[in-house]
Amino acid sequence: MKLTSRSFSRAALASAFLATTLGVSLVLASSADGAASTLGAAAAQSGRYFGTAVAAGKLGDSTYVNILNREFNMVTAENEMKWDATEPNPGQFNYSSGDRILNHAVSNGKRVRGHALLWYQQEPGWAQRMEGAGLRQAMMNHVTQVATHYRGKIYAWDVVNEAFADGNSGGRRDSNLQRTGNDWIEAAFRAARAADPGAKLCYNDYNTDGINAKSTGIYNMVRDFKARGVPIDCVGIQSHLTNNAPSDYQANLQRFADLGVDVQITELDISGANQANAYAAVTRACLAVARCTGITVWGIRDTDSWRTGQNPLLFDGSGNKKAAYNSVLAALNAATPTTPTTPTTPTTPTTPTTPTTPTTPNPGGCTASVSLNSWNGGFVATVKVTAGGTPLTGWRVTTPLPGGAAVTSSWSAGNSGTTGNVSWSNVSYNGNVPAGQSTEFGFQGTGSAEGLTATCSAS
Ligand code: XIL
Repeated sequence: MKLTSRSFSRAALASAFLATTLGVSLVLASSADGAASTLGAAAAQSGRYFGTAVAAGKLGDSTYVNILNREFNMVTAENEMKWDATEPNPGQFNYSSGDRILNHAVSNGKRVRGHALLWYQQEPGWAQRMEGAGLRQAMMNHVTQVATHYRGKIYAWDVVNEAFADGNSGGRRDSNLQRTGNDWIEAAFRAARAADPGAKLCYNDYNTDGINAKSTGIYNMVRDFKARGVPIDCVGIQSHLTNNAPSDYQANLQRFADLGVDVQITELDISGANQANAYAAVTRACLAVARCTGITVWGIRDTDSWRTGQNPLLFDGSGNKKAAYNSVLAALNAATPTTPTTPTTPTTPTTPTTPTTPTTPNPGGCTASVSLNSWNGGFVATVKVTAGGTPLTGWRVTTPLPGGAAVTSSWSAGNSGTTGNVSWSNVSYNGNVPAGQSTEFGFQGTGSAEGLTATCSAS
């Protein structure tokens, strides 16, 4: 449900009424000392997200759904947006399970990472049997069709998954995809950008957690893509770990960020006795890298994990919080993390993007700045809300949209109106912003929002 400012203040009033009449303290996403009490709220304090993989078949399990709805503000379909699920027969697409997950996420105010457009595993049987030019054509059609179906609804796509070889070669993995020609990855990124210019486009892989031959091979590819203008915005570090993150985990995230891409921890799960410490170390590493925009764990309860019997997740089989959960939450609440930067993503070469508008000073205790990503007929606006010298306990932002522009979807804020003088207020988990810290919300729209500004006031 999208919270309008009216229903939001009504909900807030109702909570206050309940709290006073019942004389109990409600469990809110934020406690009196400013520490957040859920993973999503705690990550949002620094403008980051905390996500999980979700299986469509579990959306009827109330324990699962309660934890999902309470803790996470980003969702990845565990299997439902993969090639075998979305195109079971050539040219015949099935989005029913993927849509179920997406709709659950969106109607509960969460964003979605798309996973994965091209991967050598979980190819449908018909594609597994193809090679060469025919396969290349089928691959690009797949990317275009799926990215078009989800256009405007995906925060970031794993455009290509696991294309590099393990071991010391630093080169590509052999597969029928790779055998269509070494340029298949950049062709896929270009097709994805054309189909959904609002989505960040990621390369995603595993065994890339430290600085090693495989991650260096990927690093060199990303550097080359940036140099040649191939549209890539982010690198996913899956982070399927045992006991520890490598000691150069943060340095590895940072070197990718320094190439001018976001980094995201996309499939985190950690087995072994040192689990709680290792989870905290990974969390701190992301918080220390300005362009590490969020963390996704690969499932909710240990019993939901693909790593059967290894108990690598944050909740036990009954849905109880584990020590690892507490250590992640504490790490998210501790210290002063760097706020992720959201540079403007270049879109199609023909449409210039608007540079970030200057910060608008505001006496009400906060400032807001807009980063706009535009294409012909549409835009995505990311708005950064920064608290002044005193902590915020709620905020309101107005964004006067030019004539012809209209909001079609949004995340991490409730809006009143979709055209003209649209105003936004915080949702339950991102109203508390410590002094000097930031949080982000965003919206997608049709028309042109060139020159958009945002004005913030504390509420
Ligand atoms: C896994 C799923 O969790 C399993 O349910 C499925 O059987 C196989 O795939 N890297 C990825 C994910 O990118 O898509 C994989 O997910 C785990 C490894």
